Amino acid sequence: MCGIVGYIGPKDVVPVLIEGLKKLEYRGYDSAGVAVAGPGCIRLCRVQGKVSALEEALRKSPIQGAYGLGHTRWATHGRPSETNAHPHVDCKGEIVVVHNGIIENYLALKSMLKAEGHVFRTETDTEVIAHLIEKHFRGSLEEAVRAALSTMEGAFAIGVFAVKDPGKIVAAKLGPPLVVGVGDGETIVSSDINAILAHTPRVAFLEDREMVVLDEAGPHFMDFQGKPIDKKIEQIQWNPLMIEKKGFKHFMLKEIFEQPQVIRDTLMGRLSLDQGEVLLDETGLPPAVFRDIRKAVIIACGTSSHAGFVGKYLLESLAGIPADVEYASEYRYRDFILEKDALVIIISQSGETADTLAALRAAKGRAAATLAITNAVSSSIAREAQGVLYTHAGPEIGVAATKTFTAQMTALALVALGIAQAKGAGRVQDRMAVIEELQRLPHKIEQILNRVGPIEELAKQFVAFFHFLYLGRWVNFPIALEGALKLKEISYIHAEAYAGGEMKHGPIALIDEKMPTMAIIPKDRVYEKMLSNIAEIKARSGFIIAVADENDAAIRDHVDVVIPIPPTHPLLTPFLSVVPLQLFAYYIAAKRGADIDQPRNLAKSVTVE
Ligand code: M6R
Repeated sequence: MCGIVGYIGPKDVVPVLIEGLKKLEYRGYDSAGVAVAGPGCIRLCRVQGKVSALEEALRKSPIQGAYGLGHTRWATHGRPSETNAHPHVDCKGEIVVVHNGIIENYLALKSMLKAEGHVFRTETDTEVIAHLIEKHFRGSLEEAVRAALSTMEGAFAIGVFAVKDPGKIVAAKLGPPLVVGVGDGETIVSSDINAILAHTPRVAFLEDREMVVLDEAGPHFMDFQGKPIDKKIEQIQWNPLMIEKKGFKHFMLKEIFEQPQVIRDTLMGRLSLDQGEVLLDETGLPPAVFRDIRKAVIIACGTSSHAGFVGKYLLESLAGIPADVEYASEYRYRDFILEKDALVIIISQSGETADTLAALRAAKGRAAATLAITNAVSSSIAREAQGVLYTHAGPEIGVAATKTFTAQMTALALVALGIAQAKGAGRVQDRMAVIEELQRLPHKIEQILNRVGPIEELAKQFVAFFHFLYLGRWVNFPIALEGALKLKEISYIHAEAYAGGEMKHGPIALIDEKMPTMAIIPKDRVYEKMLSNIAEIKARSGFIIAVADENDAAIRDHVDVVIPIPPTHPLLTPFLSVVPLQLFAYYIAAKRGADIDQPRNLAKSVTVE
């Protein structure tokens, strides 16, 4: 939550900061601001609202400076307002701070600083950082920052500069991510690489308790004690064009359409087709781990947990091992019991979700191994897990996850097949059937994407509804959860998801003509059961849209509308059934004029608890 960017170099600083903030806006967008270093002063511009509002304010009252910091906010402490927008300053307006995270002991620090005479102007926890640095400032900004850090508790990534120690930006990390871009005569610090790639592909990822001083000579890395660190500079493969909309109206729609390629990319190099084998060596985990584990514990949040639920079914069916799915936010605080022969699978698109990272840390050392499935190279979760399997989905900008969900399911299918193979579980020809069908999925998704018209038309019919029910069973129960989440988060329509068999235990009381049902009914082992479930809904005047096999002519007698999907291997239907649900949510939200890529109250990367 919140995006930070800082720049020092020959370019005009304000446009660099604004462009950077636009790339980071998915992290929070309720207020934004920039601060630049003028001669002997700090020039600030802050607004409530999005980066576009900041741009407008800067157009009316331009500011210029030699270097600077920018911030886009997702409010934690203090409501969204111009006053609470970052950057924040000390009493004299000579030290400027941007912050991502939460200072947990800010109330104690604030009352101490107030007692010492510091004057606070905002409701934020961040402002204490500016005053702490002011308190400790003796001429060296990095020393003052270090002294301030030693008193701060919580999670933070900060960027700071000061009038009285000019020519430098200091940044520090404990928790939320910070990346440093190392260009030709210029240096950028940012919450993620998106804001850096337009300038350089060469980056260094800060670890917790690391700081960096950016000046004319480039970045100087050190730990919180001031000990210099020799940081590895990595070359990033993503290119800036991957973050453009490429003619699509929204990033979300573009990302839905990228799913066939994402599956191909995530499978690439991980299948040995002549041997019918899955290759998991690149995870870095020894093959014995996959052979010897007897259980899997999957930990994630939100959409990633829905992929985890699909993974549970795949692991049970293909690898024959029990698998539990846990919400990271619950797991981290439980007295959980983790067997030594369990594999912990951590799923996170961003690799930075605070709860997921904390759950990984809690689980580490207590299980056979930890394996991260993430889209973010060198993210905290990727670095801290013992093994990592990257989803090659490319940057996902839409706050609602779509292509990364599909990529996570693909990675989980590979893990399930790899474990089955290592254990010799099941028959080779059954695994081969799944492998072959995985490779056909991109083409089948393309077939769905080639006929979006009827889904868009259908969305028009339901644009004014307030409630929706999503039903699925077995491997498609998680898809019901995911479809409902997509509708909720981008269209703000209330949607509930249930396993079909649960309806009669209470939720069926909700059914009337104002609550349509989206039912996922491919021809699988629970097809007949789902037919009974929807018959019970029809008997109560419920309207039913079915996502069903295109060759299932009989389904039309049971439901009101059918969205057809191509038939596939029963275990892999979620890869297809999720696509119409993503599109349905998208078109409803579009018709409602919602802010699809940046839905209200949300942020892409949830780096606070
Ligand atoms: O980056 P992560 O996969 O760890 O994020 C987890 C959730 O915050 C995320 O999936 C969230 O639910 C999305 N808004 C879903 O669209």
